[in-house]
Amino acid sequence: MLEVLFQSSLFWATLCLLVFLFLHSNFSSKKKRREPPGPKPLVLLGNLLHVDLKRLDSSLFDLSKKYGPVFTVYFGLKKVVVLAGYRTVKQALVNHAEEFGDREVTPVFHDFSKEFGILFSNGERWKEMRRFALTTLRDFGMGKRLSEGKIIEECHYLIEEFEKQEGKAFNNAKIIDYAASNIISVIMFGKRFEYQDPAFQAMMKRNRESIHLTGTTSILIYNLFPWLGPCIKKWRYLMKLAEDGKEQIIGIIEDLKQTQNPELCRYFVDAFLTRKQNLEESDIKNLHYHDDNLLYSVMNLIAAGSDTTGSTIQWCLLFMAKYPHIQDKVQEELNRVVGSRQVQVEDRKNLPYTDAVIHETQRMGNIVPMALPHKTSQDVTFQGYFIEKGTTVFPLLTSVLFDESEWETPNTFNPSHFLDREGRFIRSDVFMPFSAGRRMCIGESLARMELFLFITSLLQRFRFTPPPGVSEDELDVTPLVGFTLTPLPHKLRAVSRQ
Ligand code: HEM
Repeated sequence: MLEVLFQSSLFWATLCLLVFLFLHSNFSSKKKRREPPGPKPLVLLGNLLHVDLKRLDSSLFDLSKKYGPVFTVYFGLKKVVVLAGYRTVKQALVNHAEEFGDREVTPVFHDFSKEFGILFSNGERWKEMRRFALTTLRDFGMGKRLSEGKIIEECHYLIEEFEKQEGKAFNNAKIIDYAASNIISVIMFGKRFEYQDPAFQAMMKRNRESIHLTGTTSILIYNLFPWLGPCIKKWRYLMKLAEDGKEQIIGIIEDLKQTQNPELCRYFVDAFLTRKQNLEESDIKNLHYHDDNLLYSVMNLIAAGSDTTGSTIQWCLLFMAKYPHIQDKVQEELNRVVGSRQVQVEDRKNLPYTDAVIHETQRMGNIVPMALPHKTSQDVTFQGYFIEKGTTVFPLLTSVLFDESEWETPNTFNPSHFLDREGRFIRSDVFMPFSAGRRMCIGESLARMELFLFITSLLQRFRFTPPPGVSEDELDVTPLVGFTLTPLPHKLRAVSRQ
C-alpha cells in the first residue's frame, strides 16, 4: 500500500508543496514577529531528532534548560510551543487562562471521541459538558460525605483482596485499578462491579492498555502522519480497544435507560437523561444533551478517573516499600492518631506527615507529565513572544513538579517539601499534578479523597516490603512511559500488621 503511495505523482507534489509552505511560513513569520526560540528544525522531520520520543517530557525539560521557559519544537511539520517551569506554566494557564485554554485535539484524540464529551472538546460544547459534569459530581457529593462512604466501602473490598495474598509477594496493579474504577463507576452508573466480573476486568484492561498505547512512539508518529494509521499495528489495535470499550458502555447506558425512574436519580447517567428529557419538554433548544455527548463524557470520566488514581496509589505503596523509614513514620502517626478504627477524611488535618507523603507521591509520581495538550484560542503575546491562534501548547508539568528553583530536593522523595519546621503540613502552589486554569482536572477533590482513604486504610493494616531476596535499593522506580507514567510491573509483599 505504501509503495503505491510513494509512486504516485500526487504524493510527491503534495510533499513538495508542504515543504515549501513549511520553509516559507518559518522564514517569513520569523522575520515579522518574535516567536519563541528553539532548536533549528530539519525539513520534514522538524526536531524529531532533538527529542527522545520514548521519554518526551524529560527531553523537553532538558531543552528548556537551553532555550528558556517558552520555546518552540517541531514534530515533523507540527509546531508546538512548550511551557516550562512553575512561573511560566502558571502565568500561561492561570493569568492567560482564556488564550491558553483550548484543547488540542490530536488525530488519536479525535478518533477516541469525535470531539464530543469533555476531555477532547472545545467551545460551547466543552463548556456545557464540563459545567454539567462539575455540578453533577458536586451534587452527588464528590469529595464530600457521600463519596467518603462509597470509598470507605470500597477500601474494605480492597483490603480483603490484599488479605487473600497472605503476605506473599504479588503484583497489586489490577486490584488497585479495580478499586479506583469502582468509585467512578458508582458515580457514573450507581453501581460497583465485582473484581471477578470478566466484563469489568476486560473494561479495566482496555482502559489501561489504551492509556499506555496513546503515549507510545507509534501513536506519536500516527498523530503526525494520520494517513499512515492503517499501516500502524498499534493504531489498529488501539481503535479496536476503543470500539469494544464504546460498545460496552453503550450497553450499560441502554440498561440504565430501560430501568430509569425519573423519581429516583442514580447518579451521572440518570442526571444526564433527566436533563435531556426536561429540555425536550421545554422551549429551550437542546444542543448538547444527546447520546454522543453522554457516551463520550462517561467514557472520558471513566478513563480520566481510574488509571490516574490507581497509578498514584501504586506509586505510594512502592515508595513506602523502598523507603521503610518513611513508612515507619506514617504508620507511627496512623497508630497514634487513628489507632485501629476506620480512617475518616476528618483525620487528615491531624495526619500532617501522612498527608505530606501523599503529596510527595503525587509530585514524584508525576503521572500526567505533560498535562493534555492545549491550544491557543487566539493570537497571544506571552513573555514577549508572539504565539499564533491555533498553536499547540504543551504545559510541561514535569518541569513544574521537578522545578529546581522551587523544590529543595527536586529529584529525591522528600515529604519535607510539604512540612514546616514544626512538622505542620504546608500547601505549595508549585504542587500542580492536576494542572491549572480553565482545563484543570475536574476530579481533583474526588481523587484527593480517594488517595487519602485508600492509602491510609492500606498502610494501617499492612506493612509493604520488597519480595524475599530483593533489597529496598533494588526496587525500581523508573516509570513505565505511556500517556501517563505508571510504575513498572513489580511485586510487593503486604504483611498484615494486626
Ligand atoms: C490522581 C488523580 C488525577 C490526576 C493526577 C489528574 C490529572 C489531570 C490532568 C493533569 C489533567 C489535564 C489538565 C490540562 O489539560 O491542563 C486532567 C484533566 C481531566 N481530569 Fe483528571 N486527574 C486525576 C483524577 C481524575 C478523576 C478522579 C476524574 C474524574 C472524576 C478526572 C477527570 C478529568 C477530566 C474530565 C479532565 C478534562 C478537563 C477538561 O478538559 O476540561 N481526573 N486531570
